[in-house]
Amino acid sequence: MGRVMPDYIDTLVNEMIDDYGLTQLHAEFSRLLRLLEEMQPRTLVEIGTASGESSWAFRQIVPADCLVITVDIKPVVRAGPFPTARNGFGGVHIAPRIVTPSGPIHRILADSHQSSTRTLIEAVMAKHGRTAVDALFIDGDHSEEGVRADFALYAPLVREGGVVAFHDIVDSPYNEAVGHGVHRLWRDLVLDAAWDTREIKDRSDRQWGDRPVAQLMGIGVAIKKEPAEPLAAAGGGVRWLAYQPVFAARMAAHLLGRAYQGSGGS
Ligand SMILES: C[S@@+](CC[C@H](N)C(=O)[O-])C[C@H]1O[C@@H](n2cnc3c(N)ncnc32)[C@H](O)[C@@H]1O
Repeated sequence: MGRVMPDYIDTLVNEMIDDYGLTQLHAEFSRLLRLLEEMQPRTLVEIGTASGESSWAFRQIVPADCLVITVDIKPVVRAGPFPTARNGFGGVHIAPRIVTPSGPIHRILADSHQSSTRTLIEAVMAKHGRTAVDALFIDGDHSEEGVRADFALYAPLVREGGVVAFHDIVDSPYNEAVGHGVHRLWRDLVLDAAWDTREIKDRSDRQWGDRPVAQLMGIGVAIKKEPAEPLAAAGGGVRWLAYQPVFAARMAAHLLGRAYQGSGGS
């Protein structure tokens, strides 16, 4: 049975969509937020701020001491949830912290494909005593080369058991037509033994403009597995090696089980 009353994540996502124009599907983004809330990340990095609606929502559901960093190549394009006086970021590389009621957001204005941008992120992390990323949301350049570049540069920062989430993983004629290639990287990750993957997809028959939502967007969540150690180093030998996928699968089921509860989608 679905929830009867909207909870604060439903309300938050509704507010971001209805009042600020967040370009996410409610059923999908609210599940991602539930997963992240359950995970309690200490460090969250987003590639692709746009006008800040997703950054703002992440900030509201992570712990108060979570370091939230968001990167975009452009200044904000429209008034979003960020305080208006702080919306003018043109020409600076690291913006001053954006203060929200639930904590700061560190905004980096730079091309995510440059290794210098990763250096900037690592510098902010080091300043806050963080050595790894718990949650990475890749929603920047959607071309195949672009998303592969972001993944190659930032996924190594994610700790084992941490997650990389991607927006727009749906393999659809629309995504092909507009030159998006996230689904191609996603297809590879689904087959990659180093990652456990789950898809969050609104499969309802609703429309988004003139298109069925089932053909749009989709969020892919990849959980970084612990690497299997060589047999000799493992101590426990075959039994230890055999346990690794079981551990990763249980972790994935635990995290995603909560995220998949709720109404709508599959
Ligand atoms: C789909 S929007 C992000 C939406 C946002 N995450 C949300 O859910 O509200 C994609 C953003 O990625 C940014 N972007 C594209 N290429 C980029 C790059 N190479 N480096 C940094 N940001 C980039 C664009 O400027 C744009 O604001």
